[in-house]
Amino acid sequence: MCGIFGYIGSDNNAADKVFKGLIDIEYRGYDSWGVSYFQGNSFKTVKKTGFLPSIFNFPSSSISIGHTRWATHGGVTEINAHPHLSCDNKLVLVHNGIVENYRELKKELTNHKIKSETDSEIIIHLIEDQLQDKNLKDAVSEVFNKLEGLNAIVISDGKEIVVCKKGSPLVLGKTENGYVVASDPNAILPLTKKLIFLEDGDLFSLDAGLDPEFKEIDWQYTKADLDKFPHFMLKEIYEQPQVLYNQIQSLDAAREIAEEIKAAFGTYFVGCGSASYTCLLAEYAFSKISKKHINFSIGSEFDYKEDFLTNKSLLIAVSQSGETIDVVEPVAHAKKRGVKIVALTNTLGSTLYRMADIKHLLNAGPEKAVASTKAVIAMVANILLYAYSLAGKLDLGIKVIEDSAREIENIIKRQDEIKKLADKIYNVQHIFVLGRGISYPVALEATLKIKETSYIHAEGFASGELKHGCLALVDKGTPVIVFLPNDETKAAVLANAMEVKARGAFVIGVGFENNPVFDFFFEVKDVGASSVLPHIVFAQFLGYFLAIKLGLNPDKPRNLAKSVTVK
Ligand code: M6R
Repeated sequence: MCGIFGYIGSDNNAADKVFKGLIDIEYRGYDSWGVSYFQGNSFKTVKKTGFLPSIFNFPSSSISIGHTRWATHGGVTEINAHPHLSCDNKLVLVHNGIVENYRELKKELTNHKIKSETDSEIIIHLIEDQLQDKNLKDAVSEVFNKLEGLNAIVISDGKEIVVCKKGSPLVLGKTENGYVVASDPNAILPLTKKLIFLEDGDLFSLDAGLDPEFKEIDWQYTKADLDKFPHFMLKEIYEQPQVLYNQIQSLDAAREIAEEIKAAFGTYFVGCGSASYTCLLAEYAFSKISKKHINFSIGSEFDYKEDFLTNKSLLIAVSQSGETIDVVEPVAHAKKRGVKIVALTNTLGSTLYRMADIKHLLNAGPEKAVASTKAVIAMVANILLYAYSLAGKLDLGIKVIEDSAREIENIIKRQDEIKKLADKIYNVQHIFVLGRGISYPVALEATLKIKETSYIHAEGFASGELKHGCLALVDKGTPVIVFLPNDETKAAVLANAMEVKARGAFVIGVGFENNPVFDFFFEVKDVGASSVLPHIVFAQFLGYFLAIKLGLNPDKPRNLAKSVTVK
């Protein structure tokens, strides 16, 4: 997590450039922010807790580094915010990652005044010590090699900026008059398209003599703004029908990946959070549509299941950001075993995109809200299209995706019905969500949307599981959402709905047909296997309206970040 941006050059608005860059990467962490700029012969530093303001006026300078923090070590305070300074205030540092051995390293710093509780500050004091007999680059190299864990650091002494990384992403850009460094290429594109993606172990000093070759890339900067919407989450929900139509414009990738799945000896879909639920959904979709078994794993667990991977295995990494470390790490390990890698990602140039043998972009446009909506919809649509392609029924796949896009347009028009439900249940302590078969991952995704945005405890179940223990939690008035698609699960799902109703639950039906068991019903037309898509959209709206009713910001939930680059 954590966003990094730095500039060095002959332009004298370095801090303004850094501040603008930070706005683009604030999604990486928004606990606090800070900018250091070199003025006269010393660094001045601004640090604040909370979100970045929309404007901030900095004095002129030609070297600056900045950071947006997602706290790991030490609370959310100005002192713990980056940049961190050396004792003599001559060095400044921003850091992304976790220094796993920082306690041990801290013991070496007996003669330093350590101000913060962070692992990051230790690094700058260690470098300060090394500077007694080394230049900055060598001092950084010496210290970086001692750090355990996945880290990226950017340091300046007012003459140069030194950057290095292992695990966490960093990109360099060469502008007309200088150099930029950032943790996301998109943030650099307004300034230059000449980029270098740092590989693990790379260490550069950004100065006029920087020799590596910058590659001109033809990517477009994608700016996301709110237009007429009050929140990105709402805007991104509205964009979903178009995102679905985009998916069926070109089906070459779906065909190619289906062929790879056919040829592979074992296919593994791997993702985290919402993306992991789309991977679980893939297991049901492939079984149902193409009569094929594929395997699903949560990214952070996949390392422990990799022993049997071979060079005939196929790994499909599913990730909006393409930077989730819990996916990047197992993919790197699988690659070493010769496994073929597919990246299904929304982010051009991301780490997973660059690692993959086959790259499939989601084309959902930038997603800013922490709660993933349109990227999830695009992931599910593509997984269904792979399954239909493998079954030789791509035409049917296209049809059901189009039908689901139209049904989502319809739900957008009927969103007030979901708002009324949110107004009714916003003050409950728990919400349970039930689904069977392909609707089980939908239930899990629904609960994640509710939890992230409203902080209401929600739990999703394969609906048959509830009576194996958790039914004990259902009390009079407990909201239980039941997904009812027109498929082989309907009779059993309705029976489970009866069971919770008998215990006093407030039963919310979402599906193709009303039933007396439901206390509240939201109709979603039957659009075949792709009914999962409008069902997910129901849950997105519910999460959004619960947040609004509770006075919360659905775009930036507490404690979370959009891109999870630490383990
Ligand atoms: O960028 P990714 O798709 O790899 O992110 C994975 C999860 O962190 C992400 O889906 C997270 O669970 C979302 N906030 C869910 O809304």
